[in-house]
Amino acid sequence: MEDLSKYIEVMFEAAEEAAKIQMQYFNTDFEIGRKKNYSDLVTEVDKHSEAKIIEIIHRHFPLHNVLGEEGGDLQKNSDYLWIVDPIDGTVNYAHSVPIFCVSIAMEVKGEVVLGAVQSPMTREKFWAEKGNGAYLNDKRISVSDVDSLRDSLLVTGFPYGAKENSDHCIDHFVNFIKLGLPVRRLGSAALDICYLACGRFEGFWEVDLNAWDVAAAYLILLEAGGKVTNFKGEPYSIYNKQILASNGRKVHEEMIKVLEKAYK
Ligand code: IPD
Ligand code: CA
Ligand code: CA
Repeated sequence: MEDLSKYIEVMFEAAEEAAKIQMQYFNTDFEIGRKKNYSDLVTEVDKHSEAKIIEIIHRHFPLHNVLGEEGGDLQKNSDYLWIVDPIDGTVNYAHSVPIFCVSIAMEVKGEVVLGAVQSPMTREKFWAEKGNGAYLNDKRISVSDVDSLRDSLLVTGFPYGAKENSDHCIDHFVNFIKLGLPVRRLGSAALDICYLACGRFEGFWEVDLNAWDVAAAYLILLEAGGKVTNFKGEPYSIYNKQILASNGRKVHEEMIKVLEKAYK
């Protein structure tokens, strides 16, 4: 495979510059808008961060495509696609809750080969290169070795359109809670999955995510030894809406059994 080091440098530069912008504006009086779903916010910091990321990618690689939550730049015919969520955790950010991150991944010919998830507040940068392991800053990370659901700490998120109970999202939550399991909801899918990758959580599910929420964290989790499927245990693509991610132990099958309950 091609040497990816020049792309890794650009990915880090773009994540770092976006993180700086986010620190600069955090807890200040910035503009906040709403998207199609009333609670789905977009701030001027999301737009500013994405513009900076695209500017950096295109300064180095003018012919690459960028799929970005706030518009991206997809006009080119290229094997290289960067997948960018400038702020994952925008609702947290807009409310001055310090749980958010920048997520940048790179696909070559449809395969995710690089990913970085940077948390400006905690100075944690999770990243991975396909085939070369996953890292938290400069330390190699791996998933936890907790085997059973009983001993697990889980995390999930809800879509902004949850009012319509999209794909049973409330039922799934209730079914896990009824088992007496601890379940967290942090508000950033990318961080949820990276925390799983470094052993803080054992399992994560969500019903309605986009490629920019998961692309980088998905690779980081796989490289850390985790497992990702749909709710039935079938193969996963970052372009799927549904995601079930775990440390790859018995927990995964046990979570499938709980998720199945909502469809019976
Ligand atoms: C959201 C976060 C949240 C998840 C939502 C996503 P955004 O992304 O990842 O945790 O529950 O489904 O849309 O809007 O903050 O980029
Ligand atoms: Ca997101
Ligand atoms: Ca976002």
